[in-house]
Amino acid sequence: MTETITIRRPDDWHLHLRDGAMLEAVLPYTARQFARAIVMPNLAPPVTTMADAAAYRDRILAALPEGMHFTPLMTAYLTDTTDAGDLARGHGEGVLTAAKLYPAGATTNSASGVTDIANIMGVLERMAEIGMVLCVHGEVTDGDIDIFDREAVFIDRVLAPVIERLPELKVVYEHITTRDAVQFVEGAGPNVAATITPQHLHINRNAIFAGGINPHAYCLPVAKREEHRLALRAFATGGSAKAFLGTDSAPHARHAKESACGCAGIFNAPYALESYIAVFEEEGALDRFEAFASENGPRFYGLPLNEDTVTLARSGTDVPERLDGEHELTPFHAGQRIGWSFAG
Ligand code: NCD
Ligand code: ZN
Ligand code: ZN
Repeated sequence: MTETITIRRPDDWHLHLRDGAMLEAVLPYTARQFARAIVMPNLAPPVTTMADAAAYRDRILAALPEGMHFTPLMTAYLTDTTDAGDLARGHGEGVLTAAKLYPAGATTNSASGVTDIANIMGVLERMAEIGMVLCVHGEVTDGDIDIFDREAVFIDRVLAPVIERLPELKVVYEHITTRDAVQFVEGAGPNVAATITPQHLHINRNAIFAGGINPHAYCLPVAKREEHRLALRAFATGGSAKAFLGTDSAPHARHAKESACGCAGIFNAPYALESYIAVFEEEGALDRFEAFASENGPRFYGLPLNEDTVTLARSGTDVPERLDGEHELTPFHAGQRIGWSFAG
């Protein structure tokens, strides 16, 4: 049996780094495993312009510990009034890698998001022209749509019509959670791809309620039925170039998770690669892990592959219940053993 696996260093194509003290606390976990990450712009207030993104990138680089290497790839948060010219300049100058669509009210810090896709059609046309990637939190927000159906309804009402209208637009359907999304992405043209989180490969919706309410298993889009988890596992490990790694690591301080109205988000950065590779092993697909983690993402974004490598060993990791520090962060897999460890 293989005892270690060495692959090109992976990138994380969907990550929340936050700001200030939280940024300092969480950044080293990502920089330890990943070369680059698409950094989400849902700060409060959000990162909506090229200037905001440049300033945020500087704060991230300033928070990076001496001796660590990491390249943040910045995104702009789309609003009803986004200036297409500013986005295009930011993309042209290498400040903005992508722009992010949050339907208003869909998730954490999305209140300033887009209220109607029609409001950004001109911006999307410009992005399609210049080859700028659109990252999508794909859920409708209507209170009358069941929370477990919001992703599937988003495909029909928003995503499919946008892609039909702008087939050249590059779209990453982020953190997909349903078989419907898998089928949609597989059936769409080559400009449509998806990221998949470790939690949606490991847990189904039972985890949120097992033995009581488990706030650390709550994220958005919320985990779905087992049949959807199995579809995601088949897609992630099946060799499609349209599926790639995006952790959606989303730290919230313990008091904000363990509360009467707990925040959505799972903090999976500390053991992200161990978590993903365990899935590939269970699916008998270790030979496909490198493409998912390190090749499909940069190819889709038109960026070079990383040259250095990381090694994972079959020695096992005991994940602690909680990580030290002022925010008392609870990592994904807290208190469990994963069969792999990160060897650097
Ligand atoms: C994310 C966050 O906390 O910023 N939360 C989450 O549950 N995934 C936002 C998001 O990615 O939707
Ligand atoms: Zn999201
Ligand atoms: Zn996210």
